[in-house]
Amino acid sequence: MLPLCYTISMDIKQRKILKEHDMERIAAENSNSINLHDRHNNILMTFQGIKVGNLIGFNAGDISAAYNWSPSKRALESKTSVTGTVDTKYGGQQIVCANPLLDDDGEVSFILVTAVDKSLIDRYSSALNDSDTERKFHEITTEFLTGSSFSDDNIVMESQQMRQVIATSRYVAETDSTVMLVGESGTGKEIIARYIHRHSARKNNAFIPVNCAAIPQELMESEFFGYVKGAFTGANPLGKSGLFEMAEGGTLFLDEIGDLPLNMQSKLLRVLESGEVTRLGDTAVKEIDVRLIAATNRDLKEMIVHNLFRRDLYFRINVIPITLPRLANRREDIIPLADVFLEELNKRYGLKKEFTPQAQNAFLMYDWPGNVRELRNVVERMAVTTPGDELYLEDRFLESTRIERLESEDRFHETQISHYAQRDGSLKEVLTRIEEDYIRQVLEASGGNVAKAAQVLGIHRSVLYKKLKALNQKTGADI
Ligand SMILES: Nc1ncnc2c1ncn2[C@@H]1O[C@H](COP(=O)(O)OP(=O)(O)O)[C@@H](O)[C@H]1O
Ligand SMILES: [Mg+2]
Repeated sequence: MLPLCYTISMDIKQRKILKEHDMERIAAENSNSINLHDRHNNILMTFQGIKVGNLIGFNAGDISAAYNWSPSKRALESKTSVTGTVDTKYGGQQIVCANPLLDDDGEVSFILVTAVDKSLIDRYSSALNDSDTERKFHEITTEFLTGSSFSDDNIVMESQQMRQVIATSRYVAETDSTVMLVGESGTGKEIIARYIHRHSARKNNAFIPVNCAAIPQELMESEFFGYVKGAFTGANPLGKSGLFEMAEGGTLFLDEIGDLPLNMQSKLLRVLESGEVTRLGDTAVKEIDVRLIAATNRDLKEMIVHNLFRRDLYFRINVIPITLPRLANRREDIIPLADVFLEELNKRYGLKKEFTPQAQNAFLMYDWPGNVRELRNVVERMAVTTPGDELYLEDRFLESTRIERLESEDRFHETQISHYAQRDGSLKEVLTRIEEDYIRQVLEASGGNVAKAAQVLGIHRSVLYKKLKALNQKTGADI
């Protein structure tokens, strides 16, 4: 099919109308294209292999929410060619190359932007016969395009908990079992999913990340299973392969699986059990060979109780659960992570910034509600907006302001103390109550493990046993 060429200029009113037509989505799906932008990043001309929509007259900034980063913006800023893999909001990936064309004064007059659907390249590379060439090709392009090598240098695993996570991931990578990553947002679920893929026998095939929360409900089925030509009005006339087909031979990463509506949960379960998919409007079934990794930050068991998640699907995907702890519960990782992120920025922008001891201490004190993602953002904010080379952590860099948090902690302590103070009794009696309460809390936090609790309390195990015995006699209960 010959590429189509559009050159239209539009006024603001026309732009506004088109903007209402979900141009973000069109841009994200309109993956194989060559665009010409002007120095303000306005799209002047576009050649597209697949006609879905028209981006002319848009500013690339208008559609930036469809992507995780913008090579054209970076090329404009740096005045050099920028190439990289861009994640689209709808789960696909594009390999984008932005080439600035400079005028005699060295200023940008145009940027030529080419974008190719990454799954196409993946498919092309796996179509090559010589398996060694195939592997090399894939490794080289990925290394070159993403700027990251196949080494694990960039995953920080200083804490015991993260080392355990990596060890388990490494081990399960060699199997085809379904993995379930559980953890708050920003704890590193996706980075672990990619790690598992990279260490699996599937590493030369596609890794397809899908954010289940980001796909509009009415498009879910066609996104997952694809459709044949003429399946419904408004569909791509050529038909479309679904995510399962795109991940063939590779790994499908279903992020935020708790956000799948119940009817999709049933369909997903059927596919997992039969190992087959059928495109919408098709009668033929296709066998699929896909490894599934799911992730959630929601409590699926709780959702099952409220009939929001199917129990049978839960058991089908919860084969190997891996839990990513909150950053605040593995403080050994904080400074090494911050160092890695700062190092990346120093390299990228040619800087020599360093954390002051104040910043390092503050990092360790803060509770990081947004986990590693928040830490990365805070480090970037600090590095980019601090004029000198010495970085201090100020409240304005944090997402939940520190002061607010410390205040609420103070209030917590106040209530605790007044709670005890209100009791009648001698100092000894009050102190004993506090001691008992504290022992109970520590014991609960260590999952009833007396040895561990004794360590935290800083007393010998035998002493703790004695105290527990006394406590049990007093309350007549087991704690
Ligand atoms: N152990 C780690 N080492 C280095 N970077 C990490 C680590 N964990 C998370 N990150 C980074 O933190 C950000 C959030 O991680 P991500 O995997 O997207 O979290 P989640 O999927 O749980 O929301 C990403 O930029 C990721 O690269
Ligand atoms: Mg994520």
